[in-house]
Formats: sequence, structure tokens, C-alpha cells
Amino acid sequence: NGNYTVTLIPGDGIGPEIAESVKSIFSAAKAPIQWEEVDVTPTLVNGKTAIPADAIASVKKNTVALKGPLATPIGKGHVSLNLTLRRTFGLFANVRPCVSIKGYKTAYDDVNTVLIRENTEGEYSGIEHELVPGVVQSIKLITYQASERVARYAFHYASEHGRNKVTAVHKATVMKMSDGMFLEACRNVAKDYPNVVYDEDLLDRVCLRVVQDPTPYADTVMVMPNLYGDILSDMCAGLIGGLGLTPSGNIGKDASIFEAVHGSAPDIAGKGLANPTALLLSSLMMLRHMNLFKHADNIENAIFKTIADGKAITGDLGGKASTSQYTEGIISRIK
Ligand code: IPM
Ligand code: MN
Repeated sequence: NGNYTVTLIPGDGIGPEIAESVKSIFSAAKAPIQWEEVDVTPTLVNGKTAIPADAIASVKKNTVALKGPLATPIGKGHVSLNLTLRRTFGLFANVRPCVSIKGYKTAYDDVNTVLIRENTEGEYSGIEHELVPGVVQSIKLITYQASERVARYAFHYASEHGRNKVTAVHKATVMKMSDGMFLEACRNVAKDYPNVVYDEDLLDRVCLRVVQDPTPYADTVMVMPNLYGDILSDMCAGLIGGLGLTPSGNIGKDASIFEAVHGSAPDIAGKGLANPTALLLSSLMMLRHMNLFKHADNIENAIFKTIADGKAITGDLGGKASTSQYTEGIISRIK
């Protein structure tokens, strides 16, 4: 007993390779996880692209899932299934920690910030239309309810994780109404957390300051509307060594889905070159979400030692190792 069943969505492109890596590391670490693997190739339901029903049922039943990247068409084509999953399960907060990897040298070695993006609306509402030829409208829809919910989660997260500051990142100088209301929700929630410092900063200024010196953001949780969080999280990933290293968790009331911040990387898919670290670190967020702290710490130490050792790291980190050589390196360091 003591076994947990988790839905595994290997995904597209490099997804299956990096999911394989996670599975073998989990079994080497004797993590008590039973994988229920489901396929998320888009299917047509009433002429609309949808997620296969058995995948939905699996996530509903298990309430926790680990997900590889799902390819998203540019311009034309179906709605991103990544977004469909977030919306289907009401995954209202997308938590993206960005923390320097011990032993991997970048311009800064003390990056330690957490981004929390609203995950269901804003520019991602998917409401677009052509008014007349040459004029299109993409609606940025913001509700007080979703703003308040993600703000509350950000303050809760900060106080649970010993972070003493929440910064709301916004552009209310221009988006006076939508971002203005987002800030209003944050201010109201802040009143319930007198022990957490609350402040606000403009998105463009945060971009500038973070790349100049991320140190002041060390104990901070940054909370923001959807699209800002999408962009800022890739930017912050650049501070610690790239998208091969940044995990995320999509948190909802009834289910949570953990996934890497990166995409399906079709250019290197199937070649054994992919860095599985981002998905691995996402799987550790998942273990901690399930209170399996010891297993998470054990695997995390093995990852950091393997990277610090530098002999078996993947190409994106400046090494020559294949996905499986890197995976073997981690497995050999599991306690
Ligand atoms: C992410 C991705 C998605 C997003 C894409 C794949 C739709 O870039 O998770 O950051 O824009 O949210
Ligand atoms: Mn993104």
C-alpha cells in the first residue's frame, strides 16, 4: 500500500523521452507513484478539437497529473490543448519557481523568485473575431473573481513557503480598467495577510530590474495576469540557464497538473538530446504537493549533484550527454 496513482501525459515532441527519464528515476528512488499513462492526441468532438475523454476521466479520478509538452499550432488551427487542460480543470494558478541550480554557473547564482500567473483568462480567454477585413479584436477578459483567487493563492503560497513579499506585476498605467481591477483584488487580499509585505511594480520595469540584478526578488512571490506571467517566466528562465531547468505547477481546487515551462522542441525530438530536468523538477513539485518530501529531496539532490559534476549534462547546459546518459548519472546518485 502507500501507493499513489498519478496521470501521466507524455505529450508531443521530446515529451515521451523526458517522461521516460522521470519514470526510470522515480522507480530507482522507489517513489510510491503508480503511473496511469494517457494519450492526449487531439480528437474531434462535435467538430471541435478536444482532449480524449479517457484522459479527462483519468485526471479527474487521480486529481494529480504530470504532463509533457503538447504541440500548439501557430496562427490557424485548434486551441492549444495545454490551455484546454487548464480551463477544463479550472487550474487557476500557475506556479513557476525560478531558482538558481546549485552547481550550474550563470551570470547570477542567487536567483530565487517565484512567479504565479493567473491561468484561466486575460488574453488567453480565446475570444477573438474579425470586425471587418483588416480589423480584428482579441479580448483581454479579466474578472475580479479570478484575480482575487490567484492573488489569494499567491499570498497563501508566500506565507507557506517563508517568502515575506508579494509583488503584483501589472500595466495599470495603460490597462487602467483590467489591470486596475487585478490590483484592486490583490490589495484586498493583502489586508488578510498583514505579515506579508505587499507591493506593486510595472511589468516593463520588472523586466529591466530582474535582468540587471535578480537579488532583490529573492524572497518574493510575483503575481500577475496570464500573458505577463507567460512572458516573464521565460525571461526569468534565461537567468538560471534556460527552459531546460524551469518547472511549473498548474493548481486547481479539484486537480493539479505539473508540467515543464518549455514546449515540445520538435527540432530535437526523438534524438535523445533533450534535457529532462524541467519535467523532473516539475515532478518534484508534484511529490511535494502530495507531501512526499523525502523522495523529492532525494531525487533533487541527485539531480543537482549530476549537474554540478558536469560530466554528464545535456547539450543545452554545455555538455555532451544524451538524455539517457544524464538520467543514468542521476540514478547512480540516488540514495
Ligand atoms: C506555457 C506555454 C503555453 C502558454 C503555450 C504552449 C500555450 O508557453 O505554458 O508557458 O502560452 O501558456
Ligand atoms: Mn510560455
